[in-house]
Amino acid sequence: MIPTKTVELIHQTAIIEDVVGDYVELKKQGSSYRGLSPFTSEKTPSFYVVPSKGIFKCFSSGKGGSLMTFVMAIEKVSYPEALRIVARKYNIEIVEKEKTAEEIQAETARESLGAVVSWAQKWFSDQLETEQGKAIGLAYFESRGFREDIIEKFKVGYCPTGWEVMTKAAVDAGYKEERLEQSGLCKKKQDGTLFDFFQGRVMFPIRDVTGRVIGFGGRTLKTDKKIAKYFNSPESPLYDKSKALYGIHLAKNHITKEDSCFLVEGYTDVMAMHQSGLENVVASSGTALTIGQIALIRRFTKNVTVLFDGDAAGMRASLRGIDLLLKEGMKVKVVTFPDGDDPDSYSKKVSSTELQEFVKKGAQDFLAFKSDLLSEGAGDDPIKKAELVKSLVDTLACIPDQIQRTVYIQTIAARLKLQEKLLHAEVAKKVASDIAQEQKRSNRVLFPPQDYIPSSYIEEVTQGASKRMRTERNLLEDNLVRLLLEHGESMVKIETQIEESAEAIEVDVTFAELLIHRVESQSISMEDPSTDFILSKFTSSLDLGEIPSAETFFTGTTEDVQKKAADMLVHKYTLSENWEERHHIFSMKEEDDLEKALSTATIRIQLHDVQRNIDLLLEQLDNGDCSDEEQSRLLREKITLDKKVMELSSLLGVVILPK
Ligand code: CTP
Ligand code: MN
Repeated sequence: MIPTKTVELIHQTAIIEDVVGDYVELKKQGSSYRGLSPFTSEKTPSFYVVPSKGIFKCFSSGKGGSLMTFVMAIEKVSYPEALRIVARKYNIEIVEKEKTAEEIQAETARESLGAVVSWAQKWFSDQLETEQGKAIGLAYFESRGFREDIIEKFKVGYCPTGWEVMTKAAVDAGYKEERLEQSGLCKKKQDGTLFDFFQGRVMFPIRDVTGRVIGFGGRTLKTDKKIAKYFNSPESPLYDKSKALYGIHLAKNHITKEDSCFLVEGYTDVMAMHQSGLENVVASSGTALTIGQIALIRRFTKNVTVLFDGDAAGMRASLRGIDLLLKEGMKVKVVTFPDGDDPDSYSKKVSSTELQEFVKKGAQDFLAFKSDLLSEGAGDDPIKKAELVKSLVDTLACIPDQIQRTVYIQTIAARLKLQEKLLHAEVAKKVASDIAQEQKRSNRVLFPPQDYIPSSYIEEVTQGASKRMRTERNLLEDNLVRLLLEHGESMVKIETQIEESAEAIEVDVTFAELLIHRVESQSISMEDPSTDFILSKFTSSLDLGEIPSAETFFTGTTEDVQKKAADMLVHKYTLSENWEERHHIFSMKEEDDLEKALSTATIRIQLHDVQRNIDLLLEQLDNGDCSDEEQSRLLREKITLDKKVMELSSLLGVVILPK
């Protein structure tokens, strides 16, 4: 139990933007802060912190609340554990009241596992001061050239030989056998008693982003090749390997400051880098990089420099992990070490300054690196060369930003003397097939909002169902583009509530951001390629904090895109007045209520899509060759869709009778 006085102190001391800032890269905007939601993988920031009210709000996940609500949500912990995490950050000591037996029982598995491993971390560290620990554990770290301050910083330790020294100490300290086993520190012998899993190994504690111990890596001191060099803690409710990065708690502030992160392979590499004064570094700990780990890095930066061991086999194996980095929108560079060296061994051969120079000057763009690496292996062999191109196309297709992708295609084509057009076409094919696969997998259902009903609506309908639908969707999409180009820079206030009873808060965003966010969050996809291009361009520019003007679309784009931009511009400067009249769009001046204009625009697209689905369904029914069973399924589906039409129409204030 945490004493009430301490709870109060924690609340008084903690600063919300400070605590949230440990997880989210926040930028100041007026009186609030904003950043990318840590709860979703959004690409456009819609996560806000309002210090004056002590609250946060995340538009993409809908989460919101106080500082403690945030910590509980992001760490997935109970309130007391959230208090402990915040207390640790501010060095507030918690002198807990003696726990009763029931209280100990009531602790969640996660929390009690946390208690076991943090006890063990301290115990392993303390062993470095025992006679055996000094002679074996500490001597090992020293022989590898690690300085005392680095040994202390990483809180490495030693698990003594004998098979139950640690187990005994843990049981004496009051930890339950069941938890000890669950934590992986102990294993069960056949006779049911426990033994030390890590006995005789030097210990590297693995911590989460807040610095809490979640597991261990233990390195053998034997050179016997048959023994696994490292043992690692198993996964547990506390230790999720796919979300852990060794060194992240020490690195995060440096990553933010440098706006870049070094990625190495091993525990000792991270320590060696720190010893050489490079502190923005994490290790994936020998496993293939996961999306969860990338998301963790992305909280702090988009720039990753991967430090490769010097052997070619290892490099080829790591290439796939890098495609994943690119897919997640990271900018990737690589540094390769001389053959046989890793960052740790290399750092022992050169001075700190030399290492720093080496990684800074030696950093090479990943795609250039990959094309060089592969083309070295391919030589003049046409089959190998084709494979090389295919592999590069796969990587290029991973880059989510179109513009960046185009730049890369140009560079690579020049480098490998390929026809740029051909490479473009191959990449486009790959991107399209990736998207198709993705859609198949997620089977996305379009069901959200839309905008003006053009006067041509009625005429089109009489020209047959399919024609009407296509035309209308285009016009509806055009309307979104028009809103974007015309009002993108306007600031809009959005009001939101943390929870139903709470006071509403207001945040300022540009209309472009609101629009892109709405379209993204409602999973509305653009079917017209030029509309899609314009929206994507806005998305990627907004990521950089810029709003593209209509003029941006006049150079280096397709005719259709240019035509759209021109139409919109003309409209903006000359026809504004007429627009309303011509198309009977809004009953109010759009500028007065952009939020409303946007909702209307998106509801109309949603409505269109539902109606199109109904048309398809009716067509199937009309076909007449479906079984009774199938027919009743289609009819049920139609009822659901009809309901959606009603809902959406009522949002528009329009009554549309179902067909
Ligand atoms: N690793 C592992 N199990 C192994 C070997 C490696 O879990 N049997 C992981 C460890 O996290 C290790 C990383 O992969 O840190 C990189 O492996 P390696 O380069 O072999 O280890 P180093 O960290 O370089 O260790 P050392 O310098 O002591 O050889
Ligand atoms: Mn090594």
